[in-house]
Amino acid sequence: MSSQPQAPRRRLTVNDYRRMKEAGEKIAVVTAYDATMARLVDSAGADAILVGDSLGMVFQGHESTLPVTMEHMIYHASCVRRGLARSGGRAHLTVDMPFGSYQAGVDEAVRSAVRLVAEGGAEAVKLEGGGEYVEVVRRIVRAGVPVMGHVGLTPQSVHKLGGYVVQGKDSEQADTLLRDARKLEEAGCFAVVLECIPTELARVITARLTIPTIGIGAGAACDGQVLVVNDMLGLDGQFKPKFVKRFAELGESVEGAIAGYVGEVRAGAFPGEEHTFHSAKLRLLQVVEDGEERDALVLGAPV
Ligand code: KIV
Repeated sequence: MSSQPQAPRRRLTVNDYRRMKEAGEKIAVVTAYDATMARLVDSAGADAILVGDSLGMVFQGHESTLPVTMEHMIYHASCVRRGLARSGGRAHLTVDMPFGSYQAGVDEAVRSAVRLVAEGGAEAVKLEGGGEYVEVVRRIVRAGVPVMGHVGLTPQSVHKLGGYVVQGKDSEQADTLLRDARKLEEAGCFAVVLECIPTELARVITARLTIPTIGIGAGAACDGQVLVVNDMLGLDGQFKPKFVKRFAELGESVEGAIAGYVGEVRAGAFPGEEHTFHSAKLRLLQVVEDGEERDALVLGAPV
């Protein structure tokens, strides 16, 4: 056995995305929104963490991602960044640009991306949309911030799409999505998320791009996969779309654990002696005050 100290593991960078695609290594991405989960995801060996604006739904309880603000994203990104500082893993960190932070113009988009890096600790940003964002992507990349694209079901456009429905099912839509993905690559994206599209289309897009595709509901041909951490851990028993695999049923475990705590508190069984502090300097005495027996603490020998 070698007594040599292990070299610290190098954190992944955007260069590793392309290298992994070329080497045929699948890329495993998971979302996280707080320091504890970021630490767990990183030490479990994920290649990348996405602070997704899905936090609006799974963390804040909204019906969509639309109410999420820049301040929310910066707050959660900085929590995740602090978690990564303690985890010793190698995950790369991408942060979503929230609705309204890049749609109004290129200058505002660059300012928002820069804030996510400078204030949130992002190493890259992700934005939703295709060819219409080519100039935005170019300018953010030129400012030194790597951009991940996102096409297919783009939740920030839920009202335009008419709901959370699979995209690219006919050849016209499929052709548009392929062209969008290629435009994003040409504009300088280092990777592109394909959300809820047929696997046949995802296979073609993946083959035509030199940057990796990261699928969610887009089949197995993508270069990598991303899942919302709450979904894959089964934290919400009610939510089970077709594309989610639950790798645990933590919702049930959490409910069981909390019910156990509530029962023990009510029965007086928690806290036990092993959870209790003592002071050798205090002695409990029964005193009689106004004719009633009361507890009193006095300095004295250990009880
Ligand atoms: O917001 C998010 O978590 C995402 C992923 C599901 C791709 O955009």
